[in-house]
Amino acid sequence: MDSEEDTRMEEDTPVTWPSAKGKGKAADVGPEPYDLENLPWVEKYRPVTLDDVVSHKDITSTIERFIEKNRLPHLLFYGPPGTGKTSTILAVARRIYGNDYKKQILELNASDERGIDVVRDRIKNFAETRTLFSKGYKLIILDEADMMTTAAQAALRRVIEQYTKNVRFCIICNYVNKIIPAIQSRCTRFRFSPLPISEVEKRIIGVIETERVAYDMTGETEVYNCTGNPHPSDIETIVNSMFSDEFTTSYKLISALKTERGLALQDLLIGAYEYIEEIDFKPHARIYLLDFIATTEHRLAAGANEKIQLTALLGAFKNAVELSQRS
Ligand SMILES: Nc1ncnc2c1ncn2[C@@H]1O[C@H](COP(=O)(O)OP(=O)(O)OP(=O)(O)O)[C@@H](O)[C@H]1O
Ligand SMILES: [Mg+2]
Repeated sequence: MDSEEDTRMEEDTPVTWPSAKGKGKAADVGPEPYDLENLPWVEKYRPVTLDDVVSHKDITSTIERFIEKNRLPHLLFYGPPGTGKTSTILAVARRIYGNDYKKQILELNASDERGIDVVRDRIKNFAETRTLFSKGYKLIILDEADMMTTAAQAALRRVIEQYTKNVRFCIICNYVNKIIPAIQSRCTRFRFSPLPISEVEKRIIGVIETERVAYDMTGETEVYNCTGNPHPSDIETIVNSMFSDEFTTSYKLISALKTERGLALQDLLIGAYEYIEEIDFKPHARIYLLDFIATTEHRLAAGANEKIQLTALLGAFKNAVELSQRS
C-alpha cells in the first residue's frame, strides 16, 4: 500500500460514488426499470443463484467456499461464448451482497471502454471509495477483457495490487492468451468449458415449459430452416448437379433452389467447400476447385455480381471434372 492510497482511505474521507456516466457505471439505479416479462429469454432465464448455473459445479462450489471463508481471490473466467461466465459472476455478486448487489459492483464492458483512461479513472474512482457494508470488499467486473489494449491491461496490474484491500476483480474473457501473464498471475483462473448438449437440452425444455410454448421435437430440417443455413441435402444436390448435369440445367436448378430457399451464393460456397472435402477427387482437380471457390468467395465479399459468379463457378466445376479425368 502506498502512502497516497493510505491518505485516501482515511476514516474521515467523504464517500463519493463514481458518477454514473455511460454504460460501465456503478449501477445505482433502484429497482430494475424493465418489465421482466418483456425481457429476451436469454436475460429472463439467466441463472439467479450459483445453484442455477448448470454444469460448472466444480467452479461454483469452489467459489462458494471462498465466499464462506471470506477469502475471495481475484477471479479470471475464460471460455467460449455462452457458457455462463457473466451469469456466474452476477450470481456470485448476488450471493455476496444480496439482491442489492448492484451498488457494490462496477461492471465494465471492456469491449466498449478499453482505453487506458477507463482503467485509470473509472476503476480507480470506484476502487477508492470505501465499502459501507458488512463485506469488506467491492467487486469490479471487467467483462470481455481480452478486448482491452495491452497498455490498459498493464495499467490494471498496479490498480489490482493497490486496491486488493477493498476490491476484488473478476476478469472475464473468451481467449485467456490475450490477457497479459502479469494479470493472469494475480487471479485464480477458472475455465468454463462448453456445456454438454444434454444439460442444454434440459434447460431449454425447462424454459419452453415455463413459457408454455407449444413444441414438438424439431428435427434437423427445422433448425436449418430457422437459421437460414443451406440444408446438407440441398448442397449435395447442387454440387452433384454442378459436376454431372449439363451447364444450363445445372444453372437453372441452382437458381431455382436459391430463390426457393432464400440462399446466398456465399452460403452455397461454404456448403460446397465442406462437401468437396468429403468426396473422392484427384488432388490437382481438388486444388484447382478449392482455389476457385476461395477466389469466388473473395469476389463476392468485394460485391461482385452473384449471377456472373455462379456461372463462373459452374464453369470451374466443369473444368475440374475434365482435370480429374486426365491422369
Ligand atoms: N452454465 C449455465 N447455466 C445456466 N444457464 C446458462 C449457462 N451458461 C449460459 N447460460 C444461459 O446463456 C445465457 C448467456 O450466458 P452468459 O452471458 O453467462 O455467457 P458468457 O459465458 O458470459 O458468454 P460471453 O462470452 O458471450 O459473454 C444466460 O443468460 C443463460 O441463460
Ligand atoms: Mg459474458
